[in-house]
Amino acid sequence: MAPGAIRPRDEVRAMFDRIVPRYDLMNRLMTGWRDVAWRKRAVREALKAGPPPALLSALDVATGTGDLALALRDAGAGDVVGLDFAPAMIDEALRKDAASGRLPRIGWVEGDAMAMPFANESFDVVTVAFGLRNMPDYRAALREMARVLRPGGLLVCLETTPHPWPPVRWLVDWFLARALPFLGGRLAGDSEAYAYLPASTAAFPDAETLGRMMLAAGFARARYLRLGLGTVALHVAAMPALEPGIGDISA
Ligand SMILES: C[S@@+](CC[C@H](N)C(=O)[O-])C[C@H]1O[C@@H](n2cnc3c(N)ncnc32)[C@H](O)[C@@H]1O
Repeated sequence: MAPGAIRPRDEVRAMFDRIVPRYDLMNRLMTGWRDVAWRKRAVREALKAGPPPALLSALDVATGTGDLALALRDAGAGDVVGLDFAPAMIDEALRKDAASGRLPRIGWVEGDAMAMPFANESFDVVTVAFGLRNMPDYRAALREMARVLRPGGLLVCLETTPHPWPPVRWLVDWFLARALPFLGGRLAGDSEAYAYLPASTAAFPDAETLGRMMLAAGFARARYLRLGLGTVALHVAAMPALEPGIGDISA
């Protein structure tokens, strides 16, 4: 079986729909507000995709309540689309966008990352933050992201990652498996959803393996950086640029 989320698609969607009201607060508390800085770092990488920011088209996959899509727009990206399959998440992202009063508005799309409603080669950059771990087939999801990227385009992926050093990994896993369901139960009234996070992280490929999956999905190179004391990985993968040479203009 292809590596993918530890729970079925519909269960994952229902779970994210349920936790929307306290989702942002839980992110801030679980990470000590570091998630905001990680998204900013992802935005910095995304803006290196090539075109000047005002001409950059960006797709934020599994956008949730839209924090990364909003950060891309606020950093100057001219054309930003956020996609998520959980309707309550998209509603909240839209509400935050409207409340911000900032322009240009973001295109919010309800859809599945495994079969996105976009033509091939539509975007200069695709971002995905803490989303890939929830998809039913990681390799197929990466191929789908590669499909919608233009030649030379960038994938910027933030995701929790098993710590590379086993003693720290066991300690982190042990702590999170106890602390997060407790916090999630108290604050979001949903300890089960917050037990899923450490369990799905423990089952997710390590940063090296994820980089190799990106190459296998069609990216020409992949680099990564560890953040959050080694518990989060930021991958940047580039699509091959157009080959130099003479071709047929009718294609
Ligand atoms: C942990 S949240 C991350 C949200 C946001 N990117 C962030 O940084 O806070 C994961 C999101 O992935 C979405 N998701 C999971 N699987 C998906 C899929 N197959 N297609 C679209 N969205 C998906 C969920 O609905 C949820 O909003």
